[in-house]
Amino acid sequence: MKQNYLADKFPVYPLIAIPTAIHPLTNLNRRLNGVNIYVKRDDVMDIGLGGNKLRKLEYLLHDAISKGADTLLTTGGIQSNHTRLTATAAARAGLACEVVLSQLVPVKTANYNQNGNILLEKILGVKMHIVPENGSGAAVLEARQAELTAQGKHPYTMPMGGSSPIGALGYANCYLEIMAQSQEMDITFSHILLPNGSSGTHAGLLAGQKYAGHTGPQIRSYAVLADEVTTKKATLEKANATANLLGYTKSIPAEEVFVSDSARGEAYGIPTEAMWHALKLLASTEGIFLDPVYSGKAFAGMLADIEQGRFPEGSNLLFVMTGGTPGLFAYQDLVE
Ligand SMILES: Cc1ncc(COP(=O)(O)O)c(C=O)c1O
Repeated sequence: MKQNYLADKFPVYPLIAIPTAIHPLTNLNRRLNGVNIYVKRDDVMDIGLGGNKLRKLEYLLHDAISKGADTLLTTGGIQSNHTRLTATAAARAGLACEVVLSQLVPVKTANYNQNGNILLEKILGVKMHIVPENGSGAAVLEARQAELTAQGKHPYTMPMGGSSPIGALGYANCYLEIMAQSQEMDITFSHILLPNGSSGTHAGLLAGQKYAGHTGPQIRSYAVLADEVTTKKATLEKANATANLLGYTKSIPAEEVFVSDSARGEAYGIPTEAMWHALKLLASTEGIFLDPVYSGKAFAGMLADIEQGRFPEGSNLLFVMTGGTPGLFAYQDLVE
């Protein structure tokens, strides 16, 4: 199977073996009313404990290296999967890495501040800059970029989540990969479902769909960071920018961006009862771990939608497992 569908135009710095697997949730599907869930295992990858950011980083890293960068610089929350995987990618490519971590979530336990992603970043040896409470991560990032440049270094600065149009190409390619797998497996997916944080993953999949000239499957994300309106707007903007980069000249209509914040709960990073239920359900039926911040909430959103009959009987749903499992260890004190 061809592996990188965009490589002629957009080379990558290879970090992962693709395609990642797609398989049905056979035990769980027996309990559901007439729909079949399949999972795309982007949580299972070769390095850094895996996750969606590695697909984006393949494109970002190539761009960084081609521009002569010696340091990767990015930002996220204290338990950011993106910063952990940026540090992983930097280690792989022999670049320095610095991360700016904001206190986005009002959880102050020792596990939250020292376990999970933070622990892995310490092991990776990345330089961490913790933003004071209520401080601006963007301002610290900008200041650090200026400092490094003044020292004669060549930082390559990436936005939160690696969700620039170049980063989102990783998921445009993933869309094409999914379609090739769907053909090979002789399964038509009615929906592709996923979590939405900084919107690059949804935007990339949608841009890939437009680039391919397809009208389905419907791509639907569950917002975990911002509300539905804000997330939908960001997704549309990023999908258009990524599609334009691919040479798609039309505008994607807003009605083709499907985002729901039904599973977000109180706020980003704050667990919900439905999330813990989904996490335990998938672990106890399939032996697969969701994460508490992204995939757990999205999976809970999908289960609620199934319950409410949103998907026609017989639908094959593809849930993208975006990773984030290390975050589980940060939530030890909050498990219900
Ligand atoms: C595990 C996991 N899933 C999903 C997402 C959301 O991806 P995006 O930021 O591209 O919307 C992220 C990133 O923030 C993540 O770390």
